[in-house]
Amino acid sequence: MTNKKRVHQQVSACSVNLSRYKSATQRKLTSSTIAWSIFFLLLATTSRLFAQNIVTIPIETAKNAMVLQTDKDGRLGIIYFGSRLANNKEYAAIPNQYNSKSDNLPTYNSAYTPAGTWNVIEPAVQITHADGNMSLDLKYVGSDTKKIDANVSLTSILLKDPLYATEITLLYKTYFKENVVEQWSVIKNVEKKPIRMQKYASANLYLMGNDFYLTHYNGTWGNEMKPEEDHLSHGIKSIDSKLGTRANLLEPSAFMVSFGKSATEDEGKVLLGQLAWSGNFKIDFEVDNYNNLRLIAGINPYASEYQLAAAQEFTTPAFIYTFSSNGKGQASRNLHHWATKYRLLDGEGSRLTLLNNWEATYFDFDENKLVGLFKGAKKLGVDMFLLDDGWFGNKYPRDADTAGLGDWQENVKKLPHGIGYLVKEATAAGIKFGIWVEPEMVNPKSELYEKHKDWVIRQPNRPEKYYRNQLVLDLVNPAVQNFVFGILDTLFTKNPTLAFIKWDCNAVIYNAYSAYLPKMGLPQSQLYVDYVKGLYKVLERLRAKYPTVPMMLCSGGGGRVDYGALQYFTEYWPSDNTDPVERIFIQWEYSYFYPAIASSNHITNWSKLPLKFRTDVAMMGKLGYDIVVDKLSEKDLQFSQQAVATYHSISDLVWHGDLYRLVNPNQNPLASLMFANAEKSRAVVFNYLTNTRFMPGATPQPIQLKGLDATKNYTVKEINLYPGTESSLQSTTVYSGNFLMTVGINPDVDLERASVLLEVNEVK
Ligand code: DGJ
Repeated sequence: MTNKKRVHQQVSACSVNLSRYKSATQRKLTSSTIAWSIFFLLLATTSRLFAQNIVTIPIETAKNAMVLQTDKDGRLGIIYFGSRLANNKEYAAIPNQYNSKSDNLPTYNSAYTPAGTWNVIEPAVQITHADGNMSLDLKYVGSDTKKIDANVSLTSILLKDPLYATEITLLYKTYFKENVVEQWSVIKNVEKKPIRMQKYASANLYLMGNDFYLTHYNGTWGNEMKPEEDHLSHGIKSIDSKLGTRANLLEPSAFMVSFGKSATEDEGKVLLGQLAWSGNFKIDFEVDNYNNLRLIAGINPYASEYQLAAAQEFTTPAFIYTFSSNGKGQASRNLHHWATKYRLLDGEGSRLTLLNNWEATYFDFDENKLVGLFKGAKKLGVDMFLLDDGWFGNKYPRDADTAGLGDWQENVKKLPHGIGYLVKEATAAGIKFGIWVEPEMVNPKSELYEKHKDWVIRQPNRPEKYYRNQLVLDLVNPAVQNFVFGILDTLFTKNPTLAFIKWDCNAVIYNAYSAYLPKMGLPQSQLYVDYVKGLYKVLERLRAKYPTVPMMLCSGGGGRVDYGALQYFTEYWPSDNTDPVERIFIQWEYSYFYPAIASSNHITNWSKLPLKFRTDVAMMGKLGYDIVVDKLSEKDLQFSQQAVATYHSISDLVWHGDLYRLVNPNQNPLASLMFANAEKSRAVVFNYLTNTRFMPGATPQPIQLKGLDATKNYTVKEINLYPGTESSLQSTTVYSGNFLMTVGINPDVDLERASVLLEVNEVK
């Protein structure tokens, strides 16, 4: 078929759809419909049409493809999900076999399943029209693929109800090299009166295969990211959150799905996904009658009916996913490459090492004590001091977590000379200064609560229920947004050299009720969604004014780690649990989804395990300390000073290198992972004993490295040794990359050498 003919057919397909739509709506064409028609007629060349009325739309990255196709009725389905074909014209030959031709089976493969008409399965979208009718049908109108740059493309597909003026655009942003897709939808009310949306998913995927294994995570405070793998059987398995804020406390939206068999690090087909949303989410995994997997991901419809006024549109958060045919390692590297380049704030930059006072002092400090700690930070060689909770509140001093939250004025007893003095003293000590805030929250014992009860999320006529003695402010209210923005803005205005913010969020939303929504004539069911929108508005505003200052995303540990928030933050706090053995497991699981540069790992006294072990574990991400430096023994101090210097020498590998997991602690008494640079000339390997039961002898076998160049030669040198100890490894031996990746090297991990760090350097 010539290009000219194809263009002609595409144009006619659009016209057919549009004219059908026209008659069904009694020719009440809206101006936006006309605009879309013209738009698609002009851009028709960018979609591919392979047969009359049938439109095939491949969503491709370097390695993968998802192929969408209309059926004879103009309904859009997914006909393929997997490796990309060499010749993209062949996608049209894939049979649309899951689009049921009989009445016996539903059409499972819809690209965005509407509720209330021909399909009686779990919907992606459910709407009540202005006239109260609850049915929705969606037909293809047109599509367009725009190249944003050489690597990023955006495909938009417009769907319309033939009877009602509802428009839904499906959007697919592809990152070609990284093999990552961001998918979302825009729902537009073109009716004359408000419509109500009961469900409005971001994505509705259809994955072909026979057996699917879902890895999802449960957790609680101090116990984040506990993986569980389920073999999915017929029916629906959901992961969700209804916590409002701190939404990932019990379960994050990040998950993995293995196809056929459980994928390993380097083998098997696996999809890694998550919803980029810092609020309630729901992801449904439904094995259907063809044994394929329907996946519907979006904002949790629970108590979240959303009203759209005439002409208003709703943009759902992005569902982010990557697919790998070579196991979880590749899939996670895809996400790391994408996140550092496109999502995480300053993902390709550097980070500040720091000393935090939380575990060193808790609430018990004053300015003299803090200034003393600055000296310790300098002695250690870190870049910054981070002042944690407890610095504010006067009528109700923040001396415990029971009072003062919301009153963001320096406590005059603890800090008689204010934050400005501390910043000055830190600068004089030769370090930067950062500060903790928890701006979304309030203690009932606070002046803020006394003055602005109407700013607090609480049921007016029910007893209050607290989480960590506090309540959540109503970020739906623009006055509250201004207040929250103002806390940070004032800190920066008064202290222009403030170098870092730790943004905490310690409570979930109980008794969800906004005093502001009824004032605006809006239903309470918008609270959960509008809260997150309000939060993002504040963060947008902050980033517009302070685009580069590093910020840590913290939520009583890892209660809020997601790519919705991380576009505003440089790092996250994985867990308050800083026991190094626990942290190996927690950091290991986060590492599938987030790059190491974003993982704040602090050395604390939570555990009595040796300082070297604690330090080595913290070094596999962004290094920090939560200790009193003056309490370190001479040898521990000497070790720590060397460790900070060593970290600065390897941080480029940890922050920007490729992560390869070598030995999985979930299956072995050992964890081993490495970061190699893109040139394959340098790497650092972290090895940890995770089982303190007696092991006869050292690591029984060599560990095969990955990510090196088989033809290059390397030396392997143990680094970060504790003063007075010697390495059992020969640092002058030259190995080929081939040797290190085939035979491997034994780091000699045992009870005496519970953690071993190796630096691999090319020999030219
Ligand atoms: C919870 C955080 O996870 C901790 O690191 C610390 O900042 C406390 N909040 C302070 O209240």
